[in-house]
Amino acid sequence: MGKIVAFHSYKGGTGKTLMSANLAMIFASRGRKVCLFDLDFRAPSLQTAFKNDGNEYWLNDYLNGVCDVKKVLVDLSQKDVRKGEFLIGLANPSTEAIREMMAKDRKWEMKALGRLLSLKDSLLNGMDFDYLIWDTGPGLHYSSINAIVSTDVALVVTTMDASDIEGTRRMTHELYDLFEKKTGILLNKVPVEIISSKTEKRKLRKHFETTHDLPILELVPCFCDILRASGTYIFTEENPEHPFTKIMDRIATKIERF
Ligand SMILES: Nc1ncnc2c1ncn2[C@@H]1O[C@H](COP(=O)(O)OP(=O)(O)OP(=O)(O)O)[C@@H](O)[C@H]1O
Ligand SMILES: [Mg+2]
Repeated sequence: MGKIVAFHSYKGGTGKTLMSANLAMIFASRGRKVCLFDLDFRAPSLQTAFKNDGNEYWLNDYLNGVCDVKKVLVDLSQKDVRKGEFLIGLANPSTEAIREMMAKDRKWEMKALGRLLSLKDSLLNGMDFDYLIWDTGPGLHYSSINAIVSTDVALVVTTMDASDIEGTRRMTHELYDLFEKKTGILLNKVPVEIISSKTEKRKLRKHFETTHDLPILELVPCFCDILRASGTYIFTEENPEHPFTKIMDRIATKIERF
């Protein structure tokens, strides 16, 4: 049976969207059947790299009970992937839809969780997907908590920023422990001086494992060429030999073994 992998963070802008899109593409290029979902209804982003190409329905519609999940999925297998299958489910980026999602109450969010869980069942069991990748919004809004509750593996992306590290510690201890999810930390945008020193890296890993009680899955450097790409294409596809691609490849292998 397939798995769900959710990317989450305490603060915004840590690298969730970049990593979720690239991880999904790497799984697909390994021959897997993958669906990448934008669960960040407050700031949808995946439509920038993957166009909706006239699809009438969004994930919002599925969660609102307006349509079946199959109507939301856009199949990009032919265009973008050589071996596996690659589908996406986008969130509606219109201002009206964002405002509507922000006004949802607790009762609606509980129903949305139920729909997310039945989506999980129909895609992993009924349609034989190998991986569903959740790209979530930062922090502790209901939609992110729903994503964490429904996932199998949670990857928490943090930067070196002290408030991000501290917030991540609190969030994982208070929330993730409650749900008992397999969790890994991705420390992103790490300065090159740390990455190039074995001692510094070891110190950082040790410190994190003591304070956060969680393994650092990977330390990811800050790459100027990723910034230059500005999220308009899938970086690992265009740059197969880049160190970032090698790191994402290692993350994919670790998740396959989780
Ligand atoms: N390792 C990195 N090196 C350089 N730039 C990076 C790296 N990781 C992410 N970025 C850049 O940082 C910005 C934020 O990344 P991204 O949009 O993936 O974050 P996010 O966590 O999804 O943000 P949000 O919380 O707003 O959804 C993007 O411009 C992205 O290209
Ligand atoms: Mg994002």
